[in-house]
Amino acid sequence: MNDTLKTISMLRSARNDFTDKEIPEPLIKCIIDHSMKAANASNVQRYSMIYIDDKELLTLITNKTTAKYAIVYCLDYNRIIETAHHMGYEYKPGTDNWYDIISGIFDVSALAQTAVIAAASLGIDTVITNSVLRQNQSEIVKRLNLPEKYCIAVMAVLFGYRDIPRNEQMNRLPQEYIVHHNQYHSLREEGHDSIIKIYDQIYPQYMDESHPHYLDYFFKEWCSPSKDDYNKELKDRMKEAGFEIK
Ligand SMILES: Cc1cc2nc3c(=O)[nH]c(=O)nc-3n(C[C@H](O)[C@H](O)[C@H](O)COP(=O)(O)O)c2cc1C
Repeated sequence: MNDTLKTISMLRSARNDFTDKEIPEPLIKCIIDHSMKAANASNVQRYSMIYIDDKELLTLITNKTTAKYAIVYCLDYNRIIETAHHMGYEYKPGTDNWYDIISGIFDVSALAQTAVIAAASLGIDTVITNSVLRQNQSEIVKRLNLPEKYCIAVMAVLFGYRDIPRNEQMNRLPQEYIVHHNQYHSLREEGHDSIIKIYDQIYPQYMDESHPHYLDYFFKEWCSPSKDDYNKELKDRMKEAGFEIK
């Protein structure tokens, strides 16, 4: 296995368990440089990154974090719209332009994942988080000075060092459930029980009397209706930013 494959096979997300060790700033710059190599649709680069080392802002985007740095990834069409106008063209990314919105979300995700791999290759731990979507959206716009229109903070990558040694662990479903050859095959009935068991092996710490399986915890607690509160706020923010999907 070459070094790149080794780095990828050892990837694990941090869980707010970063140590106090500082990350040298040039390494963050290096991660940013390399993450910008990620593919993006038509090379429009429908994104902006905000790199954050201010403790208060780190708390704002994540509630509470031990991370030393974060990069917030924004789906952002302002550059391309303004450049189009400057040249006398129209560029309409917003409402009902699903093609552009889906492409933009891919672009942002590819940037973030490439940053994760670049960081891991430098021995830096990370977690991708969408916690920014769960925060007060007007506060995020105000404190990060985001444009009101055509710009949404979608996710962040948090950076730091963990004490936990890196080792390869089984924490994905086997390929037979995920990978299809030529044609999609539906899950067979017995597959559901196998999936429940596999998740129990990955996350035994969530199992107790009220949650005999990890997925009981997931469906009962993690997917609880309280999430509807921030969904509504997010929907309003999407609308305000010009991304209303009808
Ligand atoms: C879009 C996205 C959002 C995520 N948000 C969070 C988060 O808010 N908090 C967190 O602890 N992990 C978050 N994660 C990390 C996942 O929980 C993690 O990738 C998954 O549990 C698998 O674990 P692993 O990355 O260690 O293999 C997120 C990952 C992605 C891709």
